[in-house]
Amino acid sequence: MRAAYIEQPGPPDVIRYGELPAPRPGPTDVLVDVLATAVDPVDALVRSGAFRTALDFPFVIGRDLVGTVAETGPGVTGFRAGDRVWCNSLGHEGRQGAAAEQAVVAADRLYPLPAGVDPDLAVAAVHPAATAYLALFVHGRLRLGETVLVAGAAGNVGSALVTFAARAGARVLATAGARDAGYCARAGAAEVFDYRDPELTGRIHRAAPAGVDVYLDTAGVNDLETSVCLLARRGRVVLLAGAGTRPVLPAGPLYMNGGSVVGFVISHATTVELAAAARAVNDLLGQGLLRPRTLEVLPLGAAAEAHARMERGELRGRRVVLRTGLA
Ligand SMILES: NC(=O)c1ccc[n+]([C@@H]2O[C@H](COP(=O)([O-])OP(=O)(O)OC[C@H]3O[C@@H](n4cnc5c(N)ncnc54)[C@H](OP(=O)(O)O)[C@@H]3O)[C@@H](O)[C@H]2O)c1
Repeated sequence: MRAAYIEQPGPPDVIRYGELPAPRPGPTDVLVDVLATAVDPVDALVRSGAFRTALDFPFVIGRDLVGTVAETGPGVTGFRAGDRVWCNSLGHEGRQGAAAEQAVVAADRLYPLPAGVDPDLAVAAVHPAATAYLALFVHGRLRLGETVLVAGAAGNVGSALVTFAARAGARVLATAGARDAGYCARAGAAEVFDYRDPELTGRIHRAAPAGVDVYLDTAGVNDLETSVCLLARRGRVVLLAGAGTRPVLPAGPLYMNGGSVVGFVISHATTVELAAAARAVNDLLGQGLLRPRTLEVLPLGAAAEAHARMERGELRGRRVVLRTGLA
């Protein structure tokens, strides 16, 4: 089978595209004919070695796939050949990745794709949307009626955060570029603030005088001086981006308010958490509520080029999907 793979960690040009032996499913695995895979920021962290995780070389890159069940191991129930399925947890912790014509997926990491959902839209959504679900409900412990601040609300993760939070009955305040205000409002934001506005913090404070219950910054600015001081009593800051930032923590305002700062990566989510996220993601996919603003579909052989563009910052706000079967 053809695959995008690496023989060692490194920059985008370590990615090779060529033939590898087709994988074989174990007793509780499913062999999937891959239709499409996505290019995620985390793929660059794994490929470069910046995110430390067990890799077997040659290592097929890629986290997410949409495909069709080709074969099931003897211990698998619930999937049959021909089923349309998706996964968003390949390519780390010893598991080979998704950027190949075939992939083996443990049955408890595989989910049905709702009927009628476009595979490119689905594969583009499953990583950022599952991230948003887990950040809000597992790590942010969001409850009905709370106020959520989403910074970077027009992005892939940000727009899913707004959608999930609004549908859960939260009041959503969003920050985004001025041109993206309408997009964020349509996703469910009650108020949208321009992140370049010098009066931003004061405006958020006036919009939520009792404070923000859950504060999430997908832009990875991680200004804790600001976010901690905007928290409601027992409010939570969920850190999920900006790996290189080293913010100063205002300890007094945090502990005297009963607040907390928690870090989260989907890479460490359990299969039970991922399955809960998958049910919620499928609900939104089935309703057509998870759509990237800009989607670019390229052949699988363009993986190295897509990684290079991502590292140059050229994929911000857009999703690249790699298709098998495209020349
Ligand atoms: N922890 C995890 O498990 C996890 C999982 C998935 C992704 N992530 C991380 O999440 C981050 C976001 O990913 P993404 O795919 O959503 O990226 P994205 O689509 O590029 O979204 C980022 C958004 O942030 C906006 N932005 C830039 N500067 C800002 C600022 N100062 N204040 C507020 N918004 C600002 C951008 O707007 P402009 O277009 O105006 O620049 C853009 O809309 C990445 O760092 C990724 O690595 C983490």
